[in-house]
Amino acid sequence: MRILLIGSGGREHALAWQLRKNPKVTLLSAPGSTALSELGETKPIAVDDIEGLTALAREMRPDLTVIGPELPLVLGLADSLRSQGLAVFGPSSEAAKIEGSKVFAKDFMIRHNLPTANYAVFYDPAEAKNYIKDASYPIVLKADGLASGKGVFICGNLEKARAALAELAKMEAASRIIVEEYLAGEELSFFVLTDGQTLIPLPSTQDHKAIFDNDRGPNTGGMGAYSPAPLCTPKLEKIIMETIMEPAVAGLAAEGTPFQGLLYAGLMISLSGPKLLEFNARFGDPETQALMPLFKGDLAKTLLAAANGTLHEIDLSWDKRSAVCVVMSSKGYPGPYATGETITGLEEAKAMDDVVVFEAGVTKLPRKVSQGGKDSWVETSLTSGGRVLGVTGCGNSLNQAIDKAYKAVSAIHFEGAHYRSDIGAKAINQGPLYDLE
Ligand code: AMP
Ligand code: GLY
Repeated sequence: MRILLIGSGGREHALAWQLRKNPKVTLLSAPGSTALSELGETKPIAVDDIEGLTALAREMRPDLTVIGPELPLVLGLADSLRSQGLAVFGPSSEAAKIEGSKVFAKDFMIRHNLPTANYAVFYDPAEAKNYIKDASYPIVLKADGLASGKGVFICGNLEKARAALAELAKMEAASRIIVEEYLAGEELSFFVLTDGQTLIPLPSTQDHKAIFDNDRGPNTGGMGAYSPAPLCTPKLEKIIMETIMEPAVAGLAAEGTPFQGLLYAGLMISLSGPKLLEFNARFGDPETQALMPLFKGDLAKTLLAAANGTLHEIDLSWDKRSAVCVVMSSKGYPGPYATGETITGLEEAKAMDDVVVFEAGVTKLPRKVSQGGKDSWVETSLTSGGRVLGVTGCGNSLNQAIDKAYKAVSAIHFEGAHYRSDIGAKAINQGPLYDLE
């Protein structure tokens, strides 16, 4: 089976790594990365170059295209490829609005009676300025459009809300602003695979968005994840499926924009039940780096079944162990960050039992090494992104998975490397927070 994979990050590396477990799969990635070039061919076509990617697919006629990031989905890549008669894993641009526009998503949640925070939408920052004067704090301010996780501000007081509005005023994604009630609780990422009719829930995961330990500092794309989340009991999963995922998929179909691909609900779980923070229209990053090592079966066949409307024929099973992914990032991230730092210890970490290292921002370059008066060239791994690596450990318990992941992390070095030291920690003694008896 020939698969075209769109993207270049750690999530795509994890998907590619699992896809290639089927020996019949050949992979072409665009734009790809050094890690992806070790799993197949790559073509340097950007994820927002819809024409270029469509031309590539027309020429290659893949059996399946898997779209990793949200931007090409929102820009209509899936529609463009389907109009060429190609099988695609990923929703149409209309269905991807569930992620691409937070205003659309909130209105959709209300139309379909999905539990979410109360909110107001403003087209004019001046009006929002007035509104926040009398709001009760904390409140949450959000840009409508895609902002790579950087368009959300949690504000404890009026002064912070004013500063957030000033930031939002500079952002292209913030032509509309949402002011939302603050929800307290535990976050959970909940994924379903769907062909528009059948839904298959994946094991629950939890992301760690803030840059520093104990959820401090600015939000990032995600600094680590674990799976499964002890918080998500079978009972809670049933409630999430029945009150959120099933009505969401049915609602999108009923509105004439059926969703096919991976629907990701970002949830806040409190004693009053799960509430939606957001929907995403694709696999989470870094949750996928925790999930893929637990996946059993044929990912290519599964994603193709979602694309072809035959997901009811698929029976998924999962490794019952736990997985923890720790993200290592460059100095400065999520602000401006350094790149080009030499990474050492990668091979040692990769050779450890129950460890997989996914590369998000790594390039490999030949480098001249002089030893004993002799020059030779060796391939050197260098940092090339904000999030550099996702180091996943698996174990029989969450504790064991944490130990494996951090042992591998401690073998890897680069100048200014940053990682959180508490990924998974809060889940260790966490029982079911929410249990309806
Ligand atoms: P979003 O992109 O909407 O998921 O927001 C990014 C992050 O901001 C979430 O993962 C939460 O940590 C936080 N967040 C968003 N909305 C709320 C809310 N209403 N209450 C509390 N935290 C929120
Ligand atoms: N892990 C957050 C995201 O993928 O949006």
